[in-house]
Amino acid sequence: MTVIDAAAPAAAPLANPPSMPRIGDAAPAFTATTTQGEISFPSDYAGKWVILFSHPADFTPVCTSEFMTFASLQDEFAGYNTELVGLSVDGLYSHIAWLRTIKEKIVFRGMKDVEVTFPLIEDITMEIARKYGMIMPGEDSTKAVRAVFVVDPRGMIRTIIYYPLSLGRNFDELLRVVKALQTADHFAVATPADWRPGDPVIVPPAGSCGTAKERMDGHVEGVECVDWFFCTKEISEAEVEAAIRTS
Ligand code: BEZ
Repeated sequence: MTVIDAAAPAAAPLANPPSMPRIGDAAPAFTATTTQGEISFPSDYAGKWVILFSHPADFTPVCTSEFMTFASLQDEFAGYNTELVGLSVDGLYSHIAWLRTIKEKIVFRGMKDVEVTFPLIEDITMEIARKYGMIMPGEDSTKAVRAVFVVDPRGMIRTIIYYPLSLGRNFDELLRVVKALQTADHFAVATPADWRPGDPVIVPPAGSCGTAKERMDGHVEGVECVDWFFCTKEISEAEVEAAIRTS
């Protein structure tokens, strides 16, 4: 039987309790040293989308393959007003040495001579990693998992994806997420399973019985309904691209 001693002092709160921001929260603010100088996050990125991601450790193969892929897609992400910011709990000199090695020696899937020019944060105290829930002790208590936070131009967290240490990220999916979020915002729609630009999008649910009837009667131009709550419309890939591509 557990006896509770009401007179015992409560445990002191942890100085840096584990936390985990959620979708819809403001991205926790921090300043950091990176391979591209100091940054203040998210304020330095106001007006831009950002993929803030963590990796477990420098000089490891899966992380190397991911960095080469991120770097090779950097211009593609920039074309959707999206910047990349990486983080691991390694120090700055390790980061610099690793990125130099990637450029000088590593060949992966036809990529070589790859220069990583987006900032890579040093987080030896794990302060930022803990703030963002990137340390998952059941997986590893001294390394960050592969976390991805998609932060919008107002500094709000819009998507969170976590992968374990052994699983490299899917970059088609990261690009798809950015395009889907921007499309949803621009056209005030939602995107169905496996959506890609050019596929039909979901229109918001009917807000009244009258609208539901109008839609089901086929009286709303461009909107097709399978049932009153499940209506789609076409937005061509060209329209999507014209709306969300910035360069
Ligand atoms: C890797 O990036 O290869 C890796 C890092 C930590 C644990 C397992 C794999």
